Amino acid sequence: MIDSPQVLARTGGRELRRIVYDADVIQRRVAEVGEAITASYPADEELLVVGLLKGSFIFVGDLVRAIARPVQVDFLVASSYGSGTTSSGEVRLIYDPEADLQDRHVLLVEDIVDSGNTLNRLIPLLRDRGPRTLEMVALLHKRVAPHLELEPRWVGFDAPNEFLIGYGLDHSEDFRNLPFIASL
Ligand code: IMP
Ligand code: MG
Repeated sequence: MIDSPQVLARTGGRELRRIVYDADVIQRRVAEVGEAITASYPADEELLVVGLLKGSFIFVGDLVRAIARPVQVDFLVASSYGSGTTSSGEVRLIYDPEADLQDRHVLLVEDIVDSGNTLNRLIPLLRDRGPRTLEMVALLHKRVAPHLELEPRWVGFDAPNEFLIGYGLDHSEDFRNLPFIASL
């Protein structure tokens, strides 16, 4: 399948190492996570789902349709900078959610938790805004971060420590449109 014409048409001919989660597996798991999230919030209280761009954009689209609660959706873009290629520098919000987080049930949506550096700098910024609750859902968790300011309450998959692409995840902005998750 990874060297099928359908896949190669989307990767520009670049071969992938292996498919880690195929599209059906992802869809089934997203439905389960949506049910678990639904069960965790009071029936009549609205959630503010905040996707961390860009990697979470597809997951957010599928997940919000699996949450049977009133939901509003916003996004934020965090940029780590200061040290070039490592993500150990400062984190700056280059797109701030339009929504006021004060007294809201905020659900942060992350594509993948790797070193945790980005999240560890972002979480205090969000807490400062006084959400009523702040929880996180991550599609993938590599379980390599030594410390997380906020552990994701829901995780799609415990991921292998490989570089993963597809279903929103990129390598140099490529491969976000693959319907499955693969390793490079
Ligand atoms: P962290 O700060 O190391 O936890 O990772 C921050 C961001 O790096 C994640 O939200 C992803 O956008 C990206 N990232 C980390 N690991 C991968 C990967 O395996 N594939 C694609 N992007 C990744
Ligand atoms: Mg990301």
